Amino acid sequence: MKKFFFGGLLILIVSLSLGVLVQSGWAHSLNQQTDELVIQGGQLYDDWTKLIQPAPTLEGSHPIWGQQTTNTLSGVDTYRCVSCHGWDYQGADGAFRSGANFTGFPGIYDAREQDAAALEDALTGGLNQEHDFSSYLDDSDREALIAFIQNGLIDDNLYIDMVSLKVLNGDLENGKALYLAACAECHGDDGRLIQFRYEGQDINLGKLAIQDPWRFLHRTRFGTARAPEMVIGTELGWTAQDGRDVLLFSQTLPTGMEEQGGPSIGEQTPGTGEQPGGPASNIFTGILTALGAMATGLGFALVLGALLIGIIFLVVWFLRGRK
Ligand code: HEC
Ligand code: HEC
Repeated sequence: MKKFFFGGLLILIVSLSLGVLVQSGWAHSLNQQTDELVIQGGQLYDDWTKLIQPAPTLEGSHPIWGQQTTNTLSGVDTYRCVSCHGWDYQGADGAFRSGANFTGFPGIYDAREQDAAALEDALTGGLNQEHDFSSYLDDSDREALIAFIQNGLIDDNLYIDMVSLKVLNGDLENGKALYLAACAECHGDDGRLIQFRYEGQDINLGKLAIQDPWRFLHRTRFGTARAPEMVIGTELGWTAQDGRDVLLFSQTLPTGMEEQGGPSIGEQTPGTGEQPGGPASNIFTGILTALGAMATGLGFALVLGALLIGIIFLVVWFLRGRK
């Protein structure tokens, strides 16, 4: 009778551990796939005109752009999703509600609740003939944009003071630790190693964090086509709050107003070394990243399984000892 009991228990344990193993391995690689789509979509949202191959020929400004006169931007940049819908995804209701970036065009934040078919309709001219991007963005580009809209949009405006643009209620120590661990290697402990072009000036990370916290957050989470080697929050497993904490810390860095210096990024050769967890830049690194992620999942499951089996042995040993 006892034999049956222990036999049954053993089978139960083995199948449980197998279940854990398979489940975590699968769940992990599925998440990985969505993450990759969302990242790709986030970068297309930022500037698809620089990402798609072959490079598109875009005449003049986007046809919808002509419906407004307040924003004086013109040319290719008016085709970027972000120019109309904003870095905070809230268009005229968010950071672009006034100032040079004002267009009056709506945000897409609420559209995150729409299903894929409705979003596909919006991107292919179903709502507005002039909002038809299907001649530039192929099925997989639109799929990535839709995944981004459904899974990637974050409302940070509750946590950013709309006047000072400073992060509210952030955790400075957490932001500092994350920054020093993942970012300082390239941007420097004080954020001054790399300069960006921003509205015609060269600025460093500290100044960008203060001038445009939303662009900072979007590019820190989803990356930028300008730096495929950069590690990003989505892959580091950051929460939305982690991103804001790093922003808060970056807002305490020197803004570079003290002294103009450092070469502009155009003259630098940014490191090309493989970054742990860096975005996959081609199919091979893509496969490697996926395998790596699965291996991590498997490793974890194995440890769990071993732990379970260990506990069973202890229980068996204990019961035997009592006989
Ligand atoms: C030139 C400005 C402009 C650009 C560029 C632009 N949009 Fe729009 N978008 C609009 C306007 C205006 C609307 C409102 C719908 C309409 O015009 O009927 C809209 C509507 C949408 C909607 C539907 C929102 C809703 O609540 O139903 C989505 C989704 C969307 N845009 C996504 C994008 C994406 C993704 C891109 C980049 C590929 C993009 N847009 C580029 C101006 C723009
Ligand atoms: C491997 C080096 C590297 C690492 C690590 C790195 N970055 Fe970057 N980062 C770059 C480069 C290169 C650019 C692109 C500069 C340009 O625009 O030409 C960039 C751009 C950015 C931008 C966009 C600036 C803009 O123009 O809007 C932000 C924000 C940023 N980094 C923040 C971070 C944060 C936060 C971390 C830590 C998670 C980080 N970076 C880690 C190299 C790196």
